[in-house]
Amino acid sequence: MRTLAILGSTGSIGTSTLDVVRAHPDRLSVVALAAGRNRDLLKTQCETFRPRCVSVGSQEDAQWLRAQLSYQPELHWGPEGLLACALHADADTVVAAIVGSAGLASTEAALRAGRRVCVANKESLVVGGALMHEAALAGSGELLPVDSEHAALHQLLDGRDPASVREVRITASGGPFRDWPLSRIQAATVQEALNHPTWKMGPKITIDSATLMNKGLEVIEASVLFGLTADQVAVTVHPQSQVHAMVGFHDGSYQLQVCANDMKLPIQYCLLYPDKQPGPVAPYPWEAARTWTFEAPDPERFPCLGLAFEALREGGTAPALLNAANEVAVAAFLQGRLGFWDIQACNRETLSRLPAQPLCSLDQVLDADRAARRHAEGWVQTRA
Ligand SMILES: NC(=O)c1ccc[n+]([C@@H]2O[C@H](COP(=O)([O-])OP(=O)(O)OC[C@H]3O[C@@H](n4cnc5c(N)ncnc54)[C@H](OP(=O)(O)O)[C@@H]3O)[C@@H](O)[C@H]2O)c1
Repeated sequence: MRTLAILGSTGSIGTSTLDVVRAHPDRLSVVALAAGRNRDLLKTQCETFRPRCVSVGSQEDAQWLRAQLSYQPELHWGPEGLLACALHADADTVVAAIVGSAGLASTEAALRAGRRVCVANKESLVVGGALMHEAALAGSGELLPVDSEHAALHQLLDGRDPASVREVRITASGGPFRDWPLSRIQAATVQEALNHPTWKMGPKITIDSATLMNKGLEVIEASVLFGLTADQVAVTVHPQSQVHAMVGFHDGSYQLQVCANDMKLPIQYCLLYPDKQPGPVAPYPWEAARTWTFEAPDPERFPCLGLAFEALREGGTAPALLNAANEVAVAAFLQGRLGFWDIQACNRETLSRLPAQPLCSLDQVLDADRAARRHAEGWVQTRA
């Protein structure tokens, strides 16, 4: 039986994780749940799964939960609450599904404490990749990627001699603006950007899919996870989102990973690894006629992808600077304070203005994150 701490249980990945738990009552149980502000959903989840440890964003919401729940779990709040859940002695597996750099410290702590950590929080890997590996090594923790492309690569590369691999390719749906001309993309509204054609996700990652920054972050994530150079990671646009990743070998051949575009599959892959069991997603329906298409991404209409490659090549804290600027820019876009095209401009300006440092510690990464946020926020204000 795997015992889970789910950080970000009220989000898109968190609720899908609980669906996977429901499908495997004999293999998976919930020890800890942590969320931010959605106390009503957290309360319902607590009543259903009865976790021993619960954390919420604020002390006030923790008190509200204590009064509302029909049983008395350990109740925590804030960043310390996340750590209490991540490090709970009864949890052997942590699902890191907080959005943004708020998920960094708990992911690192769980790896250092020797847990299996199923990482959806790609920011942890993008921003502090080498540090996450170091933490896993120091504590014998196990890092498994939940992102569908990286779970696909993990399956394709499992047991492979790294020397046989020439490149990996992750696929991108292309987002809602794949076919749009540049002038229309530049004037895109929040509603248009949130209208993702193939994936149902939280708002931040949905905007990142529209700019292709999500794919850029995933390029960095792939490089970190599998020890690949920037030249060994490529992106192919595949609007149907059924092929998730490909590995190209030195002999010129490729292997592809195919499954439905449902995050419950990669989540289950990580939770039950190395076992493959029937779960909540039906086997791929090969009988239905279908057409798959593949195309190259357009760097002019989707410049955020190129910025991510730049940050990866620069290394050190450059990915942290880019990620932080992007979080500020996306939040400002969602609040109506920036236009869609300003997101790439804010990211480019922050990356070019702030110098990257070699990566040494989590504190240093968090300093770079704060500096980039300050800079990006200042830039946003000049646009208002
Ligand atoms: N959704 C996907 O299909 C998908 C696929 C691959 C990777 N990912 C990655 O997975 C992560 C989660 O994505 P998502 O789409 O599930 O996001 P989401 O739906 O926005 O959910 C985010 C979760 O994090 C919690 N949270 C946010 N800030 C917090 C804080 N400071 N303290 C405690 N909890 C906090 C939220 O709690 P409240 O809602 O209660 O405030 C919510 O439970 C992201 O890094 C994303 O890039 C997502």
